[in-house]
Amino acid sequence: MTTKAELANLFKSNADSVINNLIINKSLKGVHRNVIIDTLLDSLDDPVWHEYIWLILLPRRLSLVTVDNFCNLACRMCGGSKGKMKWIKPENLTKLLGHCPTTEVITFVAGNSEPMLNPDLPENFRILNEHGIRSTFVTNGHYLNRKNIAAMIEHQQPVSLNVSLDAIDQKIYQDIRGADNTKVIKGLFDLNIAKEKAGVGLPQISLLMVGMEDNISELPKFVKLAHDLSALRVHVDHMLGNYSPGDFTINPRWREYMVEALELAEKLDVTLQLPLDSMQILQREDLLPKPEKKSPLKEALGEVEAEEEYHDGGSCGIKAATLETMSKVEEMKTGLCPWLQDIHVDIDGGIQPCCNMPANMGNLYDTPLWQNQNFLQTRTHHAKGEIERLCMKNSNCIYVQELKVKKVRPRYFRKETILRKIDQNT
Ligand SMILES: C[S@@+](CC[C@H](N)C(=O)[O-])C[C@H]1O[C@@H](n2cnc3c(N)ncnc32)[C@H](O)[C@@H]1O
Ligand code: SF4
Repeated sequence: MTTKAELANLFKSNADSVINNLIINKSLKGVHRNVIIDTLLDSLDDPVWHEYIWLILLPRRLSLVTVDNFCNLACRMCGGSKGKMKWIKPENLTKLLGHCPTTEVITFVAGNSEPMLNPDLPENFRILNEHGIRSTFVTNGHYLNRKNIAAMIEHQQPVSLNVSLDAIDQKIYQDIRGADNTKVIKGLFDLNIAKEKAGVGLPQISLLMVGMEDNISELPKFVKLAHDLSALRVHVDHMLGNYSPGDFTINPRWREYMVEALELAEKLDVTLQLPLDSMQILQREDLLPKPEKKSPLKEALGEVEAEEEYHDGGSCGIKAATLETMSKVEEMKTGLCPWLQDIHVDIDGGIQPCCNMPANMGNLYDTPLWQNQNFLQTRTHHAKGEIERLCMKNSNCIYVQELKVKKVRPRYFRKETILRKIDQNT
């Protein structure tokens, strides 16, 4: 076994061969990658090392659309799609991973579709384990059936199963998601029974809610259900996009429900993540209960998830806070695009900086990421704190929020130049 110091020395003496070896062995990640990046950072004064800067820019997490174009539901805040279902075939997943060898975590997302509709789920899990990758899911939970539960137990994937429950009350759920939630809740308890029987701890369950006028009153019940399920956490997002006028803030009692849920969460030792801006309002109005315990979130989710915890809601770029993290809000700020360690990849391999920013960074099927100049240049700009004009429209992004609060004029790249060129030519 190679020690960290030996790996660092090997890298310095024959970088190409070390990188190739790590890629072949699917281990250009975790500790190995950290050692190499540290060594590289120490050597950057010498321009000979600049050709390896891509090692720093490649992402640790893929937010990967694995199913597209069809959903079993048509929820109020999304609509779902009703076309011919597309999904990523196992051989294509393997190809994508080969082109992004630094992947440590994949979040299976599905645009306006449902990731658990994927008929190749067990094979995907097998491939992920072969590559030493952990997965997280955002799912409506309607396919928590015997077959999928068995696959999850066998492969111990996903690490984190985020179920978009939105409401426990059947009528409210029916109004929002146009379906019956009995099956979803039963599936969650079935999963727990199966985990217990097999003596395994994964997947960890999280309950998600898009907060709306009529479901925010359900929040204390979510906390109770999370406790009954020994779930990792409850996570609430704002409602976004064209649907944002129906957000929970139009319910005049939203503060009351949140405070009740926070108090119950403290009592039951459940982690409750609420949108940062709502938590700040409660803090300003002196309504926040006093935190009594340390959040179990970091230990439970592991290093990668804990660092990137704000990606875990249904919508990326949203910043959430718990009672414990509210005291660290200043530390949570980045001064940079919060997705520097991630990319969003659509069903056809198209790369975006995050799921809210439709800027094109090339295609992961076509080109290995370290040879993709578009990707490398874009990320270099992001790493300098520069963004694209469109980013400013994503008001849920923590960095955009920071810029707006501090009234800092963002430094734009690419789009601005392109616009200037277009202006000059017309
Ligand atoms: C689009 S869904 C896809 C995955 C899966 N079908 C599900 O419902 O979880 C991903 C997440 O986005 C959330 N979502 C859908 N529309 C939204 C909106 N307008 N604003 C905020 N979140 C939304 C869903 O509740 C879900 O948690
Ligand atoms: S929120 Fe999820 S389940 Fe509902 S329609 Fe959209 S994609 Fe489908």
